[in-house]
Amino acid sequence: MGEGKPLLEVIDLHTAFRIRDSYYDAVDGVSFTLHKNEKLAIVGESGCGKSTLATTIMGLHNKNNTRITGEIIYKDTNLIQLSEALYNRVRGNDVGMIFQDPLASLNPLMNIGEQIEEGLVYHTDMDDKQRKARVIELLEQVGLPEPKRVAKQYPHELSGGMRQRVCIAIALACKPPIIIADEPTTALDVTIQAQILDLLNEIQEETESGIILITHDLGVVAETADRVAVMYAGQFVEVASAEELFTNPLHPYTRSLLRSIPQGGKDVSDEAPVDELHVIQGTVPSLVNLPEKGCRFAPRIPWIPDSAHEEDPVMHEAAPGHYVRCSCYKHFYFEGEEEA
Ligand SMILES: Nc1ncnc2c1ncn2[C@@H]1O[C@H](COP(=O)(O)OP(=O)(O)O)[C@@H](O)[C@H]1O
Ligand SMILES: [Mg+2]
Repeated sequence: MGEGKPLLEVIDLHTAFRIRDSYYDAVDGVSFTLHKNEKLAIVGESGCGKSTLATTIMGLHNKNNTRITGEIIYKDTNLIQLSEALYNRVRGNDVGMIFQDPLASLNPLMNIGEQIEEGLVYHTDMDDKQRKARVIELLEQVGLPEPKRVAKQYPHELSGGMRQRVCIAIALACKPPIIIADEPTTALDVTIQAQILDLLNEIQEETESGIILITHDLGVVAETADRVAVMYAGQFVEVASAEELFTNPLHPYTRSLLRSIPQGGKDVSDEAPVDELHVIQGTVPSLVNLPEKGCRFAPRIPWIPDSAHEEDPVMHEAAPGHYVRCSCYKHFYFEGEEEA
């Protein structure tokens, strides 16, 4: 993991939306790499900028009201400089994306087979027969029973879990080396969630793709991600291997997220009282209301040292491969105040 040339390298990416007459960074200086066969989870509460990051990589923003700077390096090209026509070739062919709401991302008027074929028509020179065969193969790959029948059905005839499997088939159709899944299980019920995450793991084993898995739920990534990036108010605040992040979380935000995972897992005693579920106080600041200086999370932690409100924390390597944007964790980490 992490060796050799990365599939994707994002460097100091900024995505700013125009709101009234000013631009505000929803993604504010994000950098990371993604390697072949690696699963990087991006975690943070709603409003942290996760989807904006994903849609920026996919080139889905309108240049009239969005300002994007930095680099998204793929095959020695900075994608943000591509024309719309060239970006169309990247989307689907090089990067496949799975969205949160499968119903909204499917066309209600086209049958499933036609929707999977669209990308094949656009990106490959397969003939009709080859495409039909590939559709069946994909529907099998994503675990849908009776693929021939499903290919002729329409989205409303399928369950939510089946629809998300179809969306995954669409994302996989052209065998993209990179897959971005933006909250792929949030709209599904719990048992189906686990199945979809298992499916993504199986797909990765078969295809060795690099997967960016976006979620607001740190519990989802515990067992599947190789590396985790924790995002807060447009910035990565902590990046580490999943194992390191779960055993040695440093940023107060990461620690708050960890404490808010429902403890339904195998490691926890059955008697664990439900009311110990931790809720992080306050909300993610809106783009127009970011603190002018200091740690962006500091206003939500009562016990934070005053210095956190003064100094802009910079990302630094706290342990090999473990990066954190926090100047104060050393204060509290060893002194034991806690309980935000
Ligand atoms: N098109 C847009 N115009 C203006 N602000 C936006 C737009 N899309 C998202 N935002 C704002 O950007 C921030 C990040 O949103 P988003 O990327 O959707 O976060 P997440 O996916 O983590 O919930 C939020 O404050 C949101 O209100
Ligand atoms: Mg989102």
